[in-house]
Amino acid sequence: MGVTTVTAVSDVPGSSVAKLFRSEQGGHEQVVLCQDRATGLKAVIAIHSTALGPALGGTRFHAYASDDEAVEDAINLSRGMSYKNALAGLDLGGGKAVIIGDPDTLKTEELLLAYGRCVAALGGRYVTACDVGTYVADMDVVARENPWTTGRSPEQGGAGDSSVLTAFGVFQGMRAAAATQWGDPSLRGRRVGVAGVGKVGHLLVEHLLADGAEVVVTDVRAGAVQRVLDRHPGVTAVADTAALVRTPLDVYAPCALGGALDDVTVPALTATVVCGAANNQLAHPGVEKDLADRGILYAPDYVVNSGGVIQVADELHGFDFERAKAKATRIHDTTLAIFERAKVDGVPPAVAADRLAEQRIADRTPADRWLRPEVS
Ligand SMILES: NC(=O)c1ccc[n+]([C@@H]2O[C@H](COP(=O)([O-])OP(=O)(O)OC[C@H]3O[C@@H](n4cnc5c(N)ncnc54)[C@H](O)[C@@H]3O)[C@@H](O)[C@H]2O)c1
Repeated sequence: MGVTTVTAVSDVPGSSVAKLFRSEQGGHEQVVLCQDRATGLKAVIAIHSTALGPALGGTRFHAYASDDEAVEDAINLSRGMSYKNALAGLDLGGGKAVIIGDPDTLKTEELLLAYGRCVAALGGRYVTACDVGTYVADMDVVARENPWTTGRSPEQGGAGDSSVLTAFGVFQGMRAAAATQWGDPSLRGRRVGVAGVGKVGHLLVEHLLADGAEVVVTDVRAGAVQRVLDRHPGVTAVADTAALVRTPLDVYAPCALGGALDDVTVPALTATVVCGAANNQLAHPGVEKDLADRGILYAPDYVVNSGGVIQVADELHGFDFERAKAKATRIHDTTLAIFERAKVDGVPPAVAADRLAEQRIADRTPADRWLRPEVS
């Protein structure tokens, strides 16, 4: 009832739609505008690719400056999900949705149900999950209108907190980086700096300590740092990220916000491995080359932080934590494959990761035939 879905077809020069059809980075299969006047819902669902399976990606609920900016965000984020899901070894394509408006004032149960019907209208081509501004409890509501909603609560058959396998996956990626840089995957005796000890960062600290690493942390929230120090008296803390990158480290793990690796941070880094959970760590194109030029091995963010999407994707098969964890363990081999490809092609790992993802999507390689014989 009341939900309108419109597939965008206009072609105004300079608009998001024009970019969608013309830009080299376009190639989206479908972008759908959804509206429900009764609840104030305005949403954009972007399906970048279903080459590997239904397009999975979260729903961002955000007060965009303009509707065009919202479309642009959905377009960019959905492309990123195609790459992430491809290298996560999932039989899933890439998609993303945005709901336009301030979640604090606009979000109601009725609006989420209306949004759930928009997802339903796509008949399974798009599978949704949480993102900035949406939470497990919201996905429980959205799921009442369709069977293509993940990120639900364990009580509703969901995977619960995705930080668990995100942290585990980052640790797998870090082991691959250690093996590549030092010939030994163990972090024992290595000094690792974790910037941001929130949901993912504090769990990463536990994996590192269990492996025998020495850990240094920082966070803008004193309480988050204190929680780690109380639990693990051997951990030390520094004032801020600027101090952390300058402190003697073997590994730097950005686990806070995006843009952690920029023109100030990279020259100051003492670590020779960078591997962390934060999305979009490279502040601008070219940073990946600056890292490589300094001999710093960068484990691409969207590869090593894919444990969370692996965790929620498992809900589509009836969530089984051990099965999801086994899949997340493969982040180690994928990261190794990326470093190998980077060496062979003579490019930074971030470029090699994109090439591997593009290759899997173009070849439509199913997960069970991907990266098995030729790598490891
Ligand atoms: N949670 C997941 O499953 C998941 C999955 C993939 C990627 N990520 C990414 O990992 C990162 C961390 O996610 P999270 O779920 O742990 O978020 P979170 O909000 O729980 O933790 C982030 C922490 O970083 C701290 N922080 C913010 N700015 C900082 C700064 N300038 N210096 C130091 N600390 C700072 C915050 O205080 C907070 O404690 C984010 O970039 C997120 O997008 C998370």
